[in-house]
Amino acid sequence: MTTSLSPDFLWGGACAAHQFEGGWNAGGKGPSVVDVLTAGANGVPRRITETVDPHEFYPNHEAIDFYGHFREDIKLFAEMGLKCFRTSIAWSRIFPQGDELEPNEEGLKFYDEVFDELLKYGIEPVITLSHFEIPLHLARTYGGFRNRKLVEFFERFARVCFERYNGRVKYWMTFNEINNQMNVDNPIFLWTNSGVTIDEGENPQQVLYQTAHNCLLASAKAVAAGHEINPEFQIGAMVAMVPIYPYSCDPEDIMAAEIAGRDRFFFPDVQIRGYYPAYTFKKFECEGLDPGFQDGDEEILRAGKVDYLGFSYYMSNTVKHDADTDPSKSTSGALRNSVENPYIKVSEWGWGIDPQGLRNSLNTFYNRYQIPLFIVENGFGDVDTVQPDGTIDDPARIDYLRNHIAAVKQAVLEDGVDLIGYTPWGIIDLVSFTTGEMKKRYGMIYVDRDNEGNGTMERRKKASFDWYRTVIATDGAEL
Ligand code: BG6
Repeated sequence: MTTSLSPDFLWGGACAAHQFEGGWNAGGKGPSVVDVLTAGANGVPRRITETVDPHEFYPNHEAIDFYGHFREDIKLFAEMGLKCFRTSIAWSRIFPQGDELEPNEEGLKFYDEVFDELLKYGIEPVITLSHFEIPLHLARTYGGFRNRKLVEFFERFARVCFERYNGRVKYWMTFNEINNQMNVDNPIFLWTNSGVTIDEGENPQQVLYQTAHNCLLASAKAVAAGHEINPEFQIGAMVAMVPIYPYSCDPEDIMAAEIAGRDRFFFPDVQIRGYYPAYTFKKFECEGLDPGFQDGDEEILRAGKVDYLGFSYYMSNTVKHDADTDPSKSTSGALRNSVENPYIKVSEWGWGIDPQGLRNSLNTFYNRYQIPLFIVENGFGDVDTVQPDGTIDDPARIDYLRNHIAAVKQAVLEDGVDLIGYTPWGIIDLVSFTTGEMKKRYGMIYVDRDNEGNGTMERRKKASFDWYRTVIATDGAEL
């Protein structure tokens, strides 16, 4: 049996605008919802400030300054042999406030240059339209995606991007990890996904489903617009996949895992099938929720079905029906009834290391949806040390990636999953999303920058750089 993946398989790397670009107010860019996120730490959630406060440190403002280093960085990606590169377009670079009628030409030009530079090396851009970068004005003035007006603003933004980059970008995704916001116990997720905060006295589930419905409409309208502009576009959904295992064979645990899993599947169920699943209608009925359906919404959802499912995979989760976990302070994706899984080790940040969980996820998704899949994030956040001779050994990262790619190969070569590609997260060190730290590094390229914003921004190859280059060069045969 062959041990390599097809030569067309898209090996790549992934980043997101707000976590690596910097230049938060350069070239006419407006502030986004992450520009008011302070730094946190392991187990210490980031805070959301009202506006940009000059007395606070915001790690995303400068990030690793890809804005000023993109030619150098893309040259390194090419040296690594990347076939594709996933990043996002910062919405507030294109529409600084979000509700303008005309886009900001300087912002558009920046991505012209980035995409041209990628294509110069034959690297296919894979683009997320919204990766936690909603213009702050839309959050503060309109209440974010709880307001249906945002559907129109997002569609306008999407159309501008599709038209401008038509011919240069083929693979798109609408919203990054759109299902993160199901975790209403942790306010950071609704804020970064949708620019929404929950006021005192409000029913969080009501706010969540009203917001979710608008996001789903926005995604569907963008997909339909993209297909109208270029039928060849491949436009995907993107979800966070954390498979949920039952703690035991107690039927109560099995059911607890099944029910918790609905929070993972609700968004892709709609984005892929074009209609709401039965379990959500029952939930609305039982809990008296009203997502705000209007005449014509069903047609919009049906007309905006995605072409593939992109997903991130870092870890699995285990639930026990009678456990009582407080997820509000978790930076590791804990659910209300999460417990430790005795069979897997965890990273310094408490993220469970579970390669089988990736094979399991690929099978779960493929069995459920039968459309192409794309692993657009996977990786190991770890502390790296530069040795006195300037080298950086990262064996734990190599080990993590090797075992996960081996699981991917099994899913494709033994289980028959249709997989477009694999883009490890943070191919170059960047700001951690959940903690705002620099020390939680994922890159195969090191960046000299610390948690407090010190450092020269110099780039260095880690040991994983050469290892991954070989993986790509052998189509995954040599791990
Ligand atoms: C995903 C996000 O949740 O996980 C990324 O799409 C994020 O934006 C990544 O960076 C890893 O999380 P963290 O908190 O370790 O950066």
